[in-house]
Amino acid sequence: MNISEEKVISSELYLHFSEQKDFKFWTKESINNFLVSKNNSLWVQRNHNEITGIALWSFNPDQIELIYIFTHKNHRRQHIALDLFLNSLSEITKLSVSPQPLKVFLEVSELNHKAIKFYEKIGFKVSRIRKNYYSDRSNAYEMHLDLSKLF
Ligand SMILES: CC(C)(COP(=O)(O)OP(=O)(O)OC[C@H]1O[C@@H](n2cnc3c(N)ncnc32)[C@H](O)[C@@H]1OP(=O)(O)O)[C@@H](O)C(=O)NCCC(=O)NCCS
Repeated sequence: MNISEEKVISSELYLHFSEQKDFKFWTKESINNFLVSKNNSLWVQRNHNEITGIALWSFNPDQIELIYIFTHKNHRRQHIALDLFLNSLSEITKLSVSPQPLKVFLEVSELNHKAIKFYEKIGFKVSRIRKNYYSDRSNAYEMHLDLSKLF
Protein backbone atom coordinates (compact mmCIF):
# COMPACT_ATOMS: atom_id res chain seq x y z
CA MET A 1 0.00 0.00 0.00
CA ASN A 2 1.18 3.54 -0.66
CA ILE A 3 -0.15 7.05 -0.12
CA SER A 4 0.30 10.18 -2.19
CA GLU A 5 -0.75 13.78 -1.87
CA GLU A 6 -2.97 15.05 -4.71
CA LYS A 7 -3.34 18.77 -5.42
CA VAL A 8 -6.76 18.36 -7.06
CA ILE A 9 -9.32 15.58 -7.07
CA SER A 10 -9.83 14.16 -10.56
CA SER A 11 -13.30 13.25 -11.87
CA GLU A 12 -12.31 9.59 -11.86
CA LEU A 13 -11.13 9.66 -8.25
CA TYR A 14 -14.20 11.61 -7.13
CA LEU A 15 -16.60 9.18 -8.86
CA HIS A 16 -14.83 6.19 -7.36
CA PHE A 17 -15.95 7.34 -3.89
CA SER A 18 -18.98 9.56 -4.42
CA GLU A 19 -21.10 6.86 -6.03
CA GLN A 20 -21.16 5.05 -2.68
CA LYS A 21 -24.18 5.87 -0.57
CA ASP A 22 -22.35 6.70 2.65
CA PHE A 23 -20.07 9.26 0.95
CA LYS A 24 -21.29 12.54 2.43
CA PHE A 25 -21.30 16.29 2.04
CA TRP A 26 -18.55 16.88 -0.48
CA THR A 27 -18.94 17.82 -4.12
CA LYS A 28 -15.95 17.63 -6.46
CA GLU A 29 -15.92 21.45 -6.62
CA SER A 30 -16.01 21.84 -2.84
CA ILE A 31 -13.01 19.51 -2.49
CA ASN A 32 -11.05 21.41 -5.12
CA ASN A 33 -11.97 24.75 -3.50
CA PHE A 34 -10.84 23.35 -0.15
CA LEU A 35 -7.51 22.32 -1.74
CA VAL A 36 -6.76 25.87 -2.91
CA SER A 37 -5.51 26.71 0.59
CA LYS A 38 -1.92 25.62 1.17
CA ASN A 39 -2.93 24.49 4.69
CA ASN A 40 -5.30 21.87 3.30
CA SER A 41 -4.39 18.56 1.72
CA LEU A 42 -5.83 15.45 0.12
CA TRP A 43 -4.15 12.08 0.59
CA VAL A 44 -4.99 9.04 -1.49
CA GLN A 45 -4.17 5.48 -0.62
CA ARG A 46 -3.66 2.83 -3.26
CA ASN A 47 -3.13 -0.90 -3.01
CA HIS A 48 -1.18 -1.68 -6.20
CA ASN A 49 -3.28 0.30 -8.68
CA GLU A 50 -6.53 0.11 -6.78
CA ILE A 51 -7.69 3.24 -4.93
CA THR A 52 -8.73 2.23 -1.43
CA GLY A 53 -9.09 5.39 0.67
CA ILE A 54 -8.90 9.17 0.86
CA ALA A 55 -8.24 11.60 3.68
CA LEU A 56 -8.65 15.39 3.83
CA TRP A 57 -6.60 17.34 6.36
CA SER A 58 -6.30 20.94 7.44
CA PHE A 59 -3.05 21.98 9.07
CA ASN A 60 -2.82 25.10 11.23
CA PRO A 61 -0.11 26.27 13.63
CA ASP A 62 -2.21 25.50 16.70
CA GLN A 63 -3.95 22.32 15.59
CA ILE A 64 -4.34 19.72 12.87
CA GLU A 65 -7.87 18.88 11.79
CA LEU A 66 -8.96 15.67 10.12
CA ILE A 67 -11.72 16.90 7.83
CA TYR A 68 -12.80 13.59 6.27
CA ILE A 69 -11.59 10.03 5.88
CA PHE A 70 -13.22 7.43 3.68
CA THR A 71 -12.45 3.81 2.89
CA HIS A 72 -13.94 2.29 -0.25
CA LYS A 73 -16.68 -0.20 0.71
CA ASN A 74 -14.80 -3.16 -0.81
CA HIS A 75 -11.86 -2.57 1.51
CA ARG A 76 -13.39 -1.89 4.92
CA ARG A 77 -12.03 -3.49 8.13
CA GLN A 78 -8.61 -4.14 6.59
CA HIS A 79 -6.91 -1.31 8.48
CA ILE A 80 -6.94 0.88 5.37
CA ALA A 81 -8.20 3.95 7.25
CA LEU A 82 -5.84 3.29 10.15
CA ASP A 83 -2.86 3.04 7.82
CA LEU A 84 -3.97 6.10 5.81
CA PHE A 85 -4.59 8.13 8.98
CA LEU A 86 -1.17 7.38 10.49
CA ASN A 87 0.84 7.71 7.27
CA SER A 88 -0.78 10.91 6.04
CA LEU A 89 -0.55 12.51 9.50
CA SER A 90 3.11 11.54 9.66
CA GLU A 91 3.76 13.13 6.23
CA ILE A 92 1.91 16.32 7.18
CA THR A 93 3.81 16.74 10.43
CA LYS A 94 7.15 16.06 8.63
CA LEU A 95 6.43 18.82 6.10
CA SER A 96 5.47 21.37 8.72
CA VAL A 97 7.66 23.93 10.41
CA SER A 98 8.15 23.69 14.15
CA PRO A 99 6.70 24.06 16.69
CA GLN A 100 4.32 21.22 15.93
CA PRO A 101 0.68 21.46 16.93
CA LEU A 102 0.03 19.15 19.84
CA LYS A 103 -3.45 18.00 19.02
CA VAL A 104 -5.50 16.50 16.23
CA PHE A 105 -9.10 17.62 16.17
CA LEU A 106 -12.20 16.37 14.32
CA GLU A 107 -15.99 16.55 14.31
CA VAL A 108 -18.19 13.53 13.80
CA SER A 109 -21.93 12.89 13.96
CA GLU A 110 -22.98 11.06 17.12
CA LEU A 111 -24.93 8.75 14.75
CA ASN A 112 -21.80 7.65 12.88
CA HIS A 113 -21.00 4.72 15.15
CA LYS A 114 -18.43 3.12 12.81
CA ALA A 115 -16.41 6.30 12.62
CA ILE A 116 -16.59 6.88 16.38
CA LYS A 117 -15.34 3.32 17.01
CA PHE A 118 -12.55 3.95 14.53
CA TYR A 119 -11.50 7.22 16.17
CA GLU A 120 -11.66 5.69 19.66
CA LYS A 121 -9.44 2.85 18.47
CA ILE A 122 -6.80 5.45 17.52
CA GLY A 123 -7.12 7.13 20.92
CA PHE A 124 -9.41 10.10 20.24
CA LYS A 125 -11.54 11.29 23.16
CA VAL A 126 -14.78 13.27 23.01
CA SER A 127 -14.05 16.76 24.31
CA ARG A 128 -17.31 18.56 23.51
CA ILE A 129 -20.82 17.84 22.26
CA ARG A 130 -22.35 20.33 19.84
CA LYS A 131 -26.10 20.06 20.25
CA ASN A 132 -28.34 19.97 17.15
CA TYR A 133 -25.32 20.62 14.96
CA TYR A 134 -26.48 18.89 11.77
CA SER A 135 -29.50 19.64 9.59
CA ASP A 136 -31.30 16.55 10.99
CA ARG A 137 -30.76 18.12 14.46
CA SER A 138 -28.39 15.34 15.52
CA ASN A 139 -25.45 16.24 17.73
CA ALA A 140 -21.80 16.44 16.72
CA TYR A 141 -18.96 15.15 18.83
CA GLU A 142 -15.75 17.14 18.84
CA MET A 143 -12.91 14.72 19.41
CA HIS A 144 -9.25 15.37 20.23
CA LEU A 145 -6.14 13.27 20.08
CA ASP A 146 -3.00 14.21 21.95
CA LEU A 147 -0.19 13.77 19.39
CA SER A 148 2.41 13.02 22.03
CA LYS A 149 0.50 9.79 22.72
CA LEU A 150 0.65 8.74 19.06
CA PHE A 151 4.20 9.16 17.77
C1 LIG B 1 -14.92 4.93 9.44
C2 LIG B 1 -14.13 4.29 8.28
C3 LIG B 1 -13.24 5.38 7.63
C4 LIG B 1 -13.26 3.15 8.84
O1 LIG B 1 -12.50 2.64 7.76
P1 LIG B 1 -11.85 1.15 7.75
O2 LIG B 1 -10.75 1.18 6.74
O3 LIG B 1 -12.91 0.15 7.59
O4 LIG B 1 -11.27 1.07 9.23
P2 LIG B 1 -10.02 0.19 9.75
O5 LIG B 1 -10.07 -1.17 9.13
O6 LIG B 1 -8.75 0.97 9.58
O7 LIG B 1 -10.41 0.11 11.31
C5 LIG B 1 -9.46 0.25 12.36
C6 LIG B 1 -10.18 -0.04 13.66
O8 LIG B 1 -11.28 0.89 13.86
C7 LIG B 1 -12.40 0.21 14.43
N1 LIG B 1 -13.51 0.12 13.45
C8 LIG B 1 -13.47 0.47 12.14
N2 LIG B 1 -14.67 0.24 11.55
C9 LIG B 1 -15.46 -0.28 12.52
C10 LIG B 1 -16.81 -0.74 12.52
N3 LIG B 1 -17.56 -0.73 11.41
N4 LIG B 1 -17.32 -1.24 13.69
C11 LIG B 1 -16.58 -1.27 14.82
N5 LIG B 1 -15.27 -0.86 14.88
C12 LIG B 1 -14.72 -0.36 13.74
C13 LIG B 1 -11.92 -1.19 14.78
O9 LIG B 1 -11.36 -1.16 16.09
C14 LIG B 1 -10.83 -1.42 13.73
O10 LIG B 1 -9.85 -2.35 14.12
P3 LIG B 1 -10.15 -3.95 14.00
O11 LIG B 1 -10.75 -4.19 12.64
O12 LIG B 1 -8.78 -4.56 14.16
O13 LIG B 1 -11.10 -4.29 15.11
C15 LIG B 1 -15.09 3.67 7.21
O14 LIG B 1 -16.09 2.88 7.86
C16 LIG B 1 -15.75 4.67 6.31
O15 LIG B 1 -15.19 5.05 5.27
N6 LIG B 1 -16.98 5.11 6.66
C17 LIG B 1 -17.72 6.07 5.83
C18 LIG B 1 -17.09 7.47 5.86
C19 LIG B 1 -17.08 8.06 7.24
O16 LIG B 1 -18.06 7.98 7.99
N7 LIG B 1 -15.95 8.71 7.58
C20 LIG B 1 -15.78 9.43 8.82
C21 LIG B 1 -16.38 10.78 8.66
S1 LIG B 1 -16.28 11.73 10.14
